[in-house]
Amino acid sequence: MLTTNNEIMSAAAMDGYAVGAFNISNLETLLAIAEAAVEEKSPAIIGVTPSAIRYGGLNHLAEIVKVSAKSISQPMSLHLDHGKDVENVRNCIDAGFTSVMIDASHLGFEENIAVTKEVVSLAHSRCVSVEAELGRLMGIEEEVVEEKEAFLTDPDEAEEFVRRTGIDALAIAIGTAHGPYKSKGEPKLDFARLNAIKERVKGALIVLHGASSVPPWIISKASKYGAELSGAKGIPEKQIKKAISLGVSKINIDTDLRLAFTGAVRETLATSPKAYDPRKFLIHAKETMKEVVKGKMQLFGSSGKTP
Ligand code: G3H
Ligand code: 13P
Ligand code: ZN
Repeated sequence: MLTTNNEIMSAAAMDGYAVGAFNISNLETLLAIAEAAVEEKSPAIIGVTPSAIRYGGLNHLAEIVKVSAKSISQPMSLHLDHGKDVENVRNCIDAGFTSVMIDASHLGFEENIAVTKEVVSLAHSRCVSVEAELGRLMGIEEEVVEEKEAFLTDPDEAEEFVRRTGIDALAIAIGTAHGPYKSKGEPKLDFARLNAIKERVKGALIVLHGASSVPPWIISKASKYGAELSGAKGIPEKQIKKAISLGVSKINIDTDLRLAFTGAVRETLATSPKAYDPRKFLIHAKETMKEVVKGKMQLFGSSGKTP
């Protein structure tokens, strides 16, 4: 069932679990998420970034997600992840997206507010949910904590930002980072900051980006078949669970699916030299990603929350 992030996230917030937002740029990744949603009886958010749109085409990606969502009874939303500007948002809404993120976090506070407000008025008039970001995802390296802290979300600013923009969801920076190299040492999320944000921000649901855990089994599989990923490190699952217990309702995952896909394709190509039908290695990739997505749904507590 196609629905909005607001519907999916409000139910999660009321019940104390989080929903995974999984990024796609191809059919196999979407199938993996949709099959996992059905098998786990879990809602799912499908994220599409501007670069995924450049790769797969806006209407191609939008249509496969809509067809998939309509074919299952689990709630699924079609969400623009890291939308660039108002035009980007408008194009996605016209293509049937039910939720959009405007990421103007690289701009100054006032400019971020101005762009975000414009997106809110456009999206809300079309019943589309809005997420925006405050703070920058840089991770926290132990040696340079003070420098990095400057990029983390300030709770007072978060309160003002939500109040003045009217967004539905706020993406915060508390020490996560995008990609497979999140930290040199053990990543430590700033839970005190999350608590303070949650205290101050009453009008919006909280989102955590850069939340892949980069599981060692995926890295070992990919590395065994030739991938060079030394130093890859993600956010430990225990810290993800703690973030959910402190009020995070949406958790963005891209890297773990990319790694799973890569490891599986490498494995099939290395072990089946006669394979020439792409479906042979893509099906293994899909199944491996599905296992990852199912694991996330269990970890986030969204399994079993839908019929
Ligand atoms: O934050 C989102 C992604 O992990 C980066 O995605 O390479 O499709 O822009 P992208
Ligand atoms: P990861 O790179 O940790 O998977 O984060 C993805 C993300 O935040 C997409 O918006
Ligand atoms: Zn992100």
